[in-house]
Amino acid sequence: MTKVKFTETAFRDAHQSLIATRMGIEDMLPIAEKMDKVGYHALEVWGGATFDSCLRFLNEDPWERLRALRKVLKNTKLQMLLRGQNLLGYKHYPDDIVDEFVRLSIKNGIDIVRIFDALNDLRNIKTALDATKKYGGHAQAAICYTTSPVHNTKYYVNLAMEMEKMGADSICIKDMSGILLPYPAYELVTEIKKVINVPLELHSHFTSGVANQTYLKAIEAGVDIIDTAISPLGNGTSQPATEPMAAALSESPYEADLDKDLLLEVSGYFMDLRDKYIAKGLLDIKVLNVDVNTLKYQVPGGMLSNLVSQLKMQGKEELFQEVLKEVPRVREDFGYPPLVTPMSQMVGTQAVFNVLLGERYKMIPVEAKNYVKGLYGKPAVKISDEIKLKIIGDEEVFSGRPADLLSPQLNNSREEIKEYLEQEEDVLSYSLFPQVAIEFFKQRQAKKYRISSELLDDEFQTHPI
Ligand code: CO
Repeated sequence: MTKVKFTETAFRDAHQSLIATRMGIEDMLPIAEKMDKVGYHALEVWGGATFDSCLRFLNEDPWERLRALRKVLKNTKLQMLLRGQNLLGYKHYPDDIVDEFVRLSIKNGIDIVRIFDALNDLRNIKTALDATKKYGGHAQAAICYTTSPVHNTKYYVNLAMEMEKMGADSICIKDMSGILLPYPAYELVTEIKKVINVPLELHSHFTSGVANQTYLKAIEAGVDIIDTAISPLGNGTSQPATEPMAAALSESPYEADLDKDLLLEVSGYFMDLRDKYIAKGLLDIKVLNVDVNTLKYQVPGGMLSNLVSQLKMQGKEELFQEVLKEVPRVREDFGYPPLVTPMSQMVGTQAVFNVLLGERYKMIPVEAKNYVKGLYGKPAVKISDEIKLKIIGDEEVFSGRPADLLSPQLNNSREEIKEYLEQEEDVLSYSLFPQVAIEFFKQRQAKKYRISSELLDDEFQTHPI
């Protein structure tokens, strides 16, 4: 029997994908202890958009959330998603901030740090990867999956080999759009497994309706770990549902190493929670539909809805089809970046501008200029001289590692918030989201915490979250 391991995403990607990252700690703690006994390989509980959402929308300290989860989740490994040199923000941070962020993430309870870069530029994940290993964490390097004339199996196999050479403790194929199809997945996993010795994990989204079939073929090809979400928070734009995936392995040479009875209890809890989110208007059941446009346009579901809202704001919804056709053209001009944060926003906005203004590259946001200048890293394909001229004129392109241009910031940040400082972690919250963090610190000083006391034990009540 080959054991297939499961990473449960209920506390991070599932609610990020379905309810705009609005699950608070009080919805997690009541079920956490039970989930700790299910036998998951890991629980993805932190990072991605959860950090920003805690501070900005939930009036919750993300660090305190992590400590609260760690306290209850005694047996299961806790995993976070980190955007390489962008950490949990949208720009590059200096190395001292990256190192300290990783140190404190691990100190507060993270075991596995999943690190990716939107351009698969390994120079942008190196500092975070080295720091993870230095502070005793498990460094997982993630490949952003996309399709293009250059993004073929050979490209990904090379990337995986490079990642292992850099010291990655495991490797993840991260298909943020849900466009990896079952048979290409079989080939990809087979070929990567031939060249690496560390475990291989697959992360996808059910958006286009194929991810559970993709997982099954990946399992047959030898993938070690799959990312799933408990069924009430699974499928749709989230991960394939956990229980059906586990059941699909019955009477096969594979085995899901999970306690199925406990899974049912966990499922019941989240069923009620889902009803609560629907009643509150947090969960729009549209996100649970299969979106075939994702397959056709290779555009992540979240990006499609962003394009619609950008056009709506301009009163130009009728241009949607034209913008959809412009997205792949911009992507080609930009050297085929994977459509993941921040590249999805950059490519989408440029496509909207190009169509709205009736002339391509008449208006160019500063982010796109910086990207073409090389300040985000190296695209998979060199940007043509023609496009370069259009976007940055004769300005020079930087070919080094973008973070080499940044000076240390940690001490300045600490100085800037000394009137609010209660824990070393605050320096990082502030470094990543200055305005939002200050607003949160003010609330904290005024003791305006958001507490659901009936759900938290005594200690949490006296020490609010
Ligand atoms: Co994801």
